[in-house]
Amino acid sequence: MASAHQMSKLSVAAALLLLCTAGACLLSSVEARHHHHSDSDMDSDFYSIVGYSPEDLVSHDRLIKLFEEWVAKHRKAYASFEEKLRRFEVFKDNLKHIDEINKKVSSYWLGLNAFADLTNEEFKATYLGLNTRPSRPTRSSGSSGSGSFRYAGVAADELPKEVDWRKKGAVTEVKNQGQCGSCWAFSTVAAVEGINAIVTGNLTSLSEQELIDCSTDGNNGCNGGVMDYAFSYIASSGGLHTEEAYPYLMEEGECDQKAGGEQAVTISGYEDVPAGNEEALVKALAHQPLSVAIEASGRHFQFYSGGVFDGPCGAQLDHGVAAVGYGSSKGQDYIVVKNSWGSHWGEKGYIRMKRGTGKPDGLCGINKMASYPTKDQ
Ligand SMILES: *[C@@H]1O[C@H](CO)[C@@H](O)[C@H](O)[C@H]1NC(C)=O
Repeated sequence: MASAHQMSKLSVAAALLLLCTAGACLLSSVEARHHHHSDSDMDSDFYSIVGYSPEDLVSHDRLIKLFEEWVAKHRKAYASFEEKLRRFEVFKDNLKHIDEINKKVSSYWLGLNAFADLTNEEFKATYLGLNTRPSRPTRSSGSSGSGSFRYAGVAADELPKEVDWRKKGAVTEVKNQGQCGSCWAFSTVAAVEGINAIVTGNLTSLSEQELIDCSTDGNNGCNGGVMDYAFSYIASSGGLHTEEAYPYLMEEGECDQKAGGEQAVTISGYEDVPAGNEEALVKALAHQPLSVAIEASGRHFQFYSGGVFDGPCGAQLDHGVAAVGYGSSKGQDYIVVKNSWGSHWGEKGYIRMKRGTGKPDGLCGINKMASYPTKDQ
């Protein structure tokens, strides 16, 4: 029932957006957003986190203003008016989804982040990058994975209640892979930065680009890869350069192992955490940051903006990230995960993912493919 009413609403939207492309309504809409109509301070805090307020949903004018504000905040530029209109439709659909979920669930919340003008299909195609076929190197293939698990003997009842490697100076700033399926490189580098800081006391940001360009044996640059192949490359190539010496380009480049001088950081090899064993994962995580793989392609994940995530996701691994701690909040046990979608996604670039789900694979498959680099003193 596409009523005449709806049609006229659409043309009003079109007219306003057209004005906006000339730059005029952008400023006025931003100014118009300084309002506080929420029922309580808690509500207004909540809605400032998620990027909209309930009133935004009640009128088309408000939606347009919200969209324009979002466009300005995220510095979006659209090639044409048609494209902008199309993005507005996607934005509205995402906002509807976000608001529905926020009304339904309480342990985590979704927000209008930088992905708000992307359909879930577009998001999936662009911001992930884990290849699980062919699978990661097998232990018999002569890789530097040893097949052993050095934390097997750790007593579970002696583990600290919580660990946060960020507070221990073993985690660099949150990075942004951008439109390149290079998550595997970011996941690898975060784990190597971690063990290097723990062993040497020197937290140094390292190069994802070197892995994209040079770790091609098993890995496929912006088209995906697997962390274990990347550990293998680092162990056998003499190490990794710093981020500064070999900066990120968001695209595949020529391998330059002499970039800016010597490799800064070496590892000895890597080990896999026994799959499907959360206790083993926590034992390892108590000792160092880990590379983990998850299914991150879901719409809840796309818009996660805080809380302990226990939302719907499968265990079809499609994204590489780094586990950098664990803890509990209000009776919910979680793993702290560093993502590579910039510091505006999630909780300043991180997501707390529920553990103790009772499923061997863990939430979103996080227990399925964890591994870590080893480094001799
Ligand atoms: C830390 O490591 C980097 C990279 O190798 C090096 O440039 C820097 O001098 C080191 N810092 C300290 C304090 O040793």
